Amino acid sequence: MILVTGGAGYIGSHAVVALLQAGQEVVVLDNLCNSSRESLTRVAQIAGRAPRFVHGDIRDRVLLDELFQQWPITAVMHFAGLKAVGESVRDPLRYYQTNVAGSITLCQAMADAGIFQLVFSSSATVYGESVSMPICERCPTGIPTNPYGQSKLMAENVLKTLADSDHRWSIALLRYFNPVGAHESGLIGEDPNGIPNNLLPYMLQVAVGRRPYLNVYGDDYPTPDGTGVRDYIHVLDLVDGHLRALERLALGGGVAVWNLGTGRGCSVLEMVRALEGVTGRALPFRVVARRSGDIAQCWADPTKAERELRWRATRDLRAMLEDAWRWQRLNPHGYQGDVEKAAAALAS
Ligand code: NAD
Ligand code: UD1
Repeated sequence: MILVTGGAGYIGSHAVVALLQAGQEVVVLDNLCNSSRESLTRVAQIAGRAPRFVHGDIRDRVLLDELFQQWPITAVMHFAGLKAVGESVRDPLRYYQTNVAGSITLCQAMADAGIFQLVFSSSATVYGESVSMPICERCPTGIPTNPYGQSKLMAENVLKTLADSDHRWSIALLRYFNPVGAHESGLIGEDPNGIPNNLLPYMLQVAVGRRPYLNVYGDDYPTPDGTGVRDYIHVLDLVDGHLRALERLALGGGVAVWNLGTGRGCSVLEMVRALEGVTGRALPFRVVARRSGDIAQCWADPTKAERELRWRATRDLRAMLEDAWRWQRLNPHGYQGDVEKAAAALAS
């Protein structure tokens, strides 16, 4: 049985579907601070069976001990965490408390329960501003420009020293590039709170008419068209990488770092044109000043994961945008809306 922390969230819910479909038993631990119970109802609809659900916090040691006693858990996929960059600048302690201290509490409870396999959600943000592209795992980590990024780097360092201290640990640090897209059913996807920080959720809200235009943060970067370049990866490819990492952990072997990206960079303007192609609608945008803390470009060298995990991202940008667009049209108000009504409206 696999414990999935943060399993009601965007990436976690897709991972739970993949685990259930692979025949695993799953228990989700989530405090629902950035997600809703509805995502797991939809997960059950897709997978044909439901995961167990525990409503609670990764920082609650008593709860963790009970959970590990109650279920025959063999490994943990640890997605639970806070991820809003701006909020992390305003409230850094909350970010360190959840992302660093929460991960420590989880590992203490795991060790006491004799569970030593962990897949951790890290981020390409730990590389900071890399000078050369693509970024491989041997590239030095940099200085993340915000507390969110710092918390991911700190948690990585904690997990590395933990694995060095006790060879029973088998830990995968997965550095995500830019996860986008949704399950092809359109039933689960990204449901940001308030004004989206990330590019694709913002573009989708413009495309459905919830926002008038996209702000393009700078067109004077040293990139082919002057806008920021990122490595967007389909969330289904990303979770496939997690399943491969989990298989690999069962073989033992300390701590390993893998980039999960496609190896291809895409600019903001290329994203705008590609989404227009998928929706058949013009996407209004305005070029504004650069966003503080942004880097010009960032894309992965994914060959280590290809070699060691026999994993490769297979879905192209069009598939990412088509799946994201289907989710957005079926659920213009995220999990709060009525998907059946939206589906009927779309079909008519
Ligand atoms: P998300 O916010 O959709 O999911 C995180 C889940 O964790 C939510 O369901 C939330 O309710 C839960 N949670 C938060 N604090 C908790 C706590 N203390 N106890 C229990 N549950 C808690 O985010 P996501 O996009 O699915 O991201 C999952 C992980 O991947 C996060 O650790 C995030 O930092 C990391 N990550 C995400 C991205 C991205 O672009 N989405 C990129 C790199 C890394
Ligand atoms: C951001 C975070 C990063 C986090 C990642 C995933 C910052 C500075 N970085 O990365 O720490 O790990 O999300 O959650 O917030 N853009 C626009 N207009 C928008 C939004 C974005 O032009 O409204 C541009 C950005 O300038 C960037 C690109 O789109 O060039 C992608 O932005 P975003 O989706 O926020 O991801 P990152 O900046 O890579």
